[in-house]
Amino acid sequence: MSDVRLATATGATHAAILGVGAYRPSRVVPNADLVAAIDSSDEWIQQRSGIRERRWATAEETVQLMAVSAARTALERSGLDPRQIDCVVVATVTHFLQTPALATLVAHELGTDQAAAFDISAACAGFCHGVALASDLVRGGSAGHVLVIGVERLSDITDPTDRGTAFIFADGAGAAVVGPSEDPGIGPVVWGSDGEQSELIRQREDWRDVLASPDPAIPHLVMQGNPVFRWASFTMAKVAQQALDRAGIGVDDLDLFVPHQANMRITDAMARTMKLPDHVRIARDIAEQGNTSAASIPLALDRMLADGEAHSGDLALFIAFGAGLSYAGQVVRVP
Ligand SMILES: CC(C)(COP(=O)(O)OP(=O)(O)OC[C@H]1O[C@@H](n2cnc3c(N)ncnc32)[C@H](O)[C@@H]1OP(=O)(O)O)[C@@H](O)C(=O)NCCC(=O)NCCS
Repeated sequence: MSDVRLATATGATHAAILGVGAYRPSRVVPNADLVAAIDSSDEWIQQRSGIRERRWATAEETVQLMAVSAARTALERSGLDPRQIDCVVVATVTHFLQTPALATLVAHELGTDQAAAFDISAACAGFCHGVALASDLVRGGSAGHVLVIGVERLSDITDPTDRGTAFIFADGAGAAVVGPSEDPGIGPVVWGSDGEQSELIRQREDWRDVLASPDPAIPHLVMQGNPVFRWASFTMAKVAQQALDRAGIGVDDLDLFVPHQANMRITDAMARTMKLPDHVRIARDIAEQGNTSAASIPLALDRMLADGEAHSGDLALFIAFGAGLSYAGQVVRVP
């Protein structure tokens, strides 16, 4: 056995989000366009979910196009050149090629210098998983700057006749550049999974079963809305509180609450359970954007920055949850 001691990498003392970007697809779909197929109404949808309209991608607005566009904005806002990115992490469940990873195509199109690139599958919690990984890669010395992208075309896997999902899911992309920082800009992640509840949100069937069927069709998302609602509203509020505790701050120190845009009623229930004070501004991007899974948190933060609701230096609480069931949350300082 060799007794040679291995060298180890040394990273930055702290990591932070340096810039965010977003891509909203061009096609605006109001509730009125969906209600006939699900025997619903604009009023019911708004009351139960807070959604007024959503964006669905056109055929040209591929996951790659949306991811690259959001990433370019995030890079510009960070003042970085693509060649300074060492790693690209894409969170998605709607890249339909099993391999290669979407991240490799995005890294190449952006013009990175052969950055490491891989996709992660953590559904709606994917972006927060990516931010946690990026922070640790930067602090561990594996990467100087990491690009984290959440992108989805959920309209491809949503059944327009399913009353429980047709009005919820939507498309878009959001991105963040994570890099070294003088002060801590990303708090410790609180994350986990509960596979016992994996049936609550899932793609209906495996592609092999689809191909074996006499009438093959894309396997849609299916969801048991009620238990998902209860789990998200109560269990996730506790996880969000743990993320605050691990960051060493209380609700009074927060400026922004940016939860996964699953459903406005879930956001409101979490805010009540956590007793968020009135000064904490709450992301409500879902009203115009729908639930975009891994893309929803960076899209929501991007809108708050554009609307002047979020400012550089603010402390924001991210909490994301979804199929798996999987979840992740952390406190970040807004770039
Ligand atoms: C999907 C959701 C809005 C459905 O609301 P709900 O109150 O649970 O709906 P239910 O299935 O219990 O049905 C309640 C009533 O509304 C009706 N209903 C269900 N879907 C409807 C629709 N799309 N339009 C109109 N009425 C509908 C039902 O028929 C039922 O009527 P009844 O009381 O006369 O029998 C809700 O469960 C939810 O928000 N879940 C969380 C989903 C989520 O955020 N998922 C993403 C996690 S990442």
